[in-house]
Amino acid sequence: MTGVPVLALIDVVKDYVGEAGTFRALHGISMTVADGELMAIMGPSGSGKSTLMNIIGCLDSPTTGAYRFEGTDTATLGERALARMRNAGIGFIFQQFNLLPRLSALGNVALPLVYAGLGKADREAQAQALLAEVGLADKPRSRPSQLSGGQQQRVAIARALANRPKLLLADEPTGALDTKTGAEVLGLFKTLNREQGVTVVIVTHDPEVARAADRVVRIQDGRVFYDGPPTEAALYGHGEVAA
Ligand SMILES: Nc1ncnc2c1ncn2[C@@H]1O[C@H](COP(=O)(O)OP(=O)(O)OP(=O)(O)O)[C@@H](O)[C@H]1O
Ligand SMILES: [Mg+2]
Repeated sequence: MTGVPVLALIDVVKDYVGEAGTFRALHGISMTVADGELMAIMGPSGSGKSTLMNIIGCLDSPTTGAYRFEGTDTATLGERALARMRNAGIGFIFQQFNLLPRLSALGNVALPLVYAGLGKADREAQAQALLAEVGLADKPRSRPSQLSGGQQQRVAIARALANRPKLLLADEPTGALDTKTGAEVLGLFKTLNREQGVTVVIVTHDPEVARAADRVVRIQDGRVFYDGPPTEAALYGHGEVAA
């Protein structure tokens, strides 16, 4: 451990500029996430959670303020260097899985390894090992449409892990799943966090998902108004939840 946080936001402002004018989605957010943390981001619809995740994932950049990933100020990187850092360092998981429908489970997981420059046999062997890690060793040839929602999300997690990222970012990863399946997927995140030390940031509306986190950040109107342990008040958003 180096002591350098996995990520740091320093007074991040995000403005969306459109025909109707400028909309400020983030109003100066500062936070750091340490190596090995499991953090949940909560807040009402439209509060800025996905906007924040896009910046954390280097898919978008702050209007003002700074974003550092593993100590590197992302504003100093060009498009290609940023893409390389993103591919190697960050795994993304989405609510709707975003798997390629025409590829098998194995093919979906092997895809990111193409960019890592591995040959076909190595890619397939690694993809098979990743499928085993998420409990799907017996389903390599299944297409997404032949898998349950929970299984599809596990394929997506295996794909996100392919390049052994430092950070997993998941925006509502259990939002399309029933309670029991969602709990299983959440259990997988917890295991990866505990056993492999992967840093995990999950956006969720579900207090029971956020309860599994070490730390809850609540956002409202583009501002952090709670950052601390998953207390009942923090999870359910009532009572005193001062930061
Ligand atoms: N590309 C965009 N252009 C203009 N406004 C945007 C854009 N993306 C998001 N917004 C606005 O920024 C605010 C924050 O949106 P964001 O998607 O971050 O919310 P969210 O917290 O993820 O909501 P949800 O829980 O519904 O996913 C919203 O008011 C939204 O309308
Ligand atoms: Mg969102």
